[in-house]
Amino acid sequence: MSVRRLAEDQFQPAAFAFNKENAVWAEKTIKKYPEGRQQSAIIPLMMRAQEQEGWVTRAAIETIADMLDMAHIRALEVATFYTQFQLNPVGTKAHIQVCGTTPCMLRGAEGLVKVCKSKINGHAFERNADGTLSWEEVECQGACVNAPMVVIGKDTYEDLTPERLEEIIDAFSAGEGSKVPTGPQIDRVFSAPEGGLTSLTTEAPKAKSASGKASAKVDAAPVPPSEAARPKSTDAETNAALKTPATAPAAAAQNAKAAVAQPLSGTAAAEPVKAPVSKAESAQKPALTDKNRPAGIEKPATPDDLKLISGVGPKIEAILHELGIFTFAQVGSWKKAEREWVDGYLNFKGRIERDDWIKQAKALAKGGEAEYIKVFGKKPR
Ligand code: FES
Repeated sequence: MSVRRLAEDQFQPAAFAFNKENAVWAEKTIKKYPEGRQQSAIIPLMMRAQEQEGWVTRAAIETIADMLDMAHIRALEVATFYTQFQLNPVGTKAHIQVCGTTPCMLRGAEGLVKVCKSKINGHAFERNADGTLSWEEVECQGACVNAPMVVIGKDTYEDLTPERLEEIIDAFSAGEGSKVPTGPQIDRVFSAPEGGLTSLTTEAPKAKSASGKASAKVDAAPVPPSEAARPKSTDAETNAALKTPATAPAAAAQNAKAAVAQPLSGTAAAEPVKAPVSKAESAQKPALTDKNRPAGIEKPATPDDLKLISGVGPKIEAILHELGIFTFAQVGSWKKAEREWVDGYLNFKGRIERDDWIKQAKALAKGGEAEYIKVFGKKPR
């Protein structure tokens, strides 16, 4: 636990006041608390003061204490207890909070700290020469799955490398921090696997029926966790459960029960009753002969590196090659129907649109990485 003291007098402003908008907000916030409990508003008010000033000044602490009719020392206790309150001036353009907890540390947080030391200041909480940047090491920020990461303001920047953090710091330093995309900095959607789905991408393996024969195709929908916790069921039950998607209507469950209730005749097992075909079951991968399939070409001598498109990993690139897609220009020219065909073929559920492959591919086709950086404010991938 670090010693938390107020900033030296030389940094402390003489007075503090909420600006007009924040004053209205503060008044409303205080009124949210029951009569006699207004002091409970101290944390939100102090946080708003920090957002307004960049850090929590002595004047702000005392003004807020007066607003809430509490002793200055009580407000001071709150400000010095919670580490989210910055008690010293921080960078005016960015204060970078590097997560240094185990998962981030194992995935390279030390490299990020080195970047902060070399680009900002050798010491945490001290600003760079022009006072625009500062940094500190913090505990887990809850994005461990995409470690290592930093927080700047209210945003997280994940899956970082030292090089990428340098670029981000440069962008903030140039006043262009708002152009940096937040969240994962690689081809990952939220916390999904890097490079696309690695499971539940195909149909489940054929399940055996009670007669020991492989049953017809089963739905790829996962069995809900509650199923796993149940005692072992019969093959017929299993078949019926697998055929019943998580959202299937009650009728399907009834059919499953009926199948279990069927007596066995001789050695031949009763055929399980089929659950109604769900939308997911009937939704087919689009046919390769479909008219909306984008036209393929022969593999050129130097195909484009499609992996530069965010959302395309090695596996997806290999599938695109199988389809005869080798260049950014091809991807950039896809019309809506073609995008939908590819999206369905890859079982992407709209990801091509979400990741805006077309805009990315057009930029890459027009001017490679330089054009991509111009359009997106960051390097591809
Ligand atoms: S350990 Fe870094 S976000 Fe959790």
